[in-house]
Amino acid sequence: MFLKKTFIIALIAGACREPAPARTTTLEVALLGERIFQENCSSCHSFDSEPALSGPSLENARKSRDATFIRESIVEPGRRVVAGYPAMPDSFGHLNEKELDAVVYFVANEVKQ
Ligand code: HEC
Repeated sequence: MFLKKTFIIALIAGACREPAPARTTTLEVALLGERIFQENCSSCHSFDSEPALSGPSLENARKSRDATFIRESIVEPGRRVVAGYPAMPDSFGHLNEKELDAVVYFVANEVKQ
């Protein structure tokens, strides 16, 4: 009897210690991406066809839905530069992989309201 109880307690304790599998929903990624965008990108970029800011509109980047290209624009800003613009600053080293994924997702999927 004692052994059985101990076994069950050990089982429960084990189950509690097991971390729940990290599942990040698409909505969480989009919301994180939007926040990262507001904090790091929105001073220079909008999605309007007539950009009023110092960076080009991200309308084309969004339409392309090309995550690799969008990511490259952030992490290797001098690689391809939109004609008529200076290169984008190389100042996003503070973003971790998760934040980068999220902001790339946001740019690729931004929906105009
Ligand atoms: C200080 C202004 C500035 C900030 C902040 C900035 N950008 Fe840029 N960005 C630019 C400029 C200028 C260009 C055009 C030159 C180039 O292509 O590198 C550009 C280009 C781009 C392009 C390529 C667009 C195209 O049509 O080819 C993408 C995508 C992009 N930026 C995404 C971002 C994202 C995402 C962030 C935030 C993490 C960001 N930018 C922050 C100025 C900025």
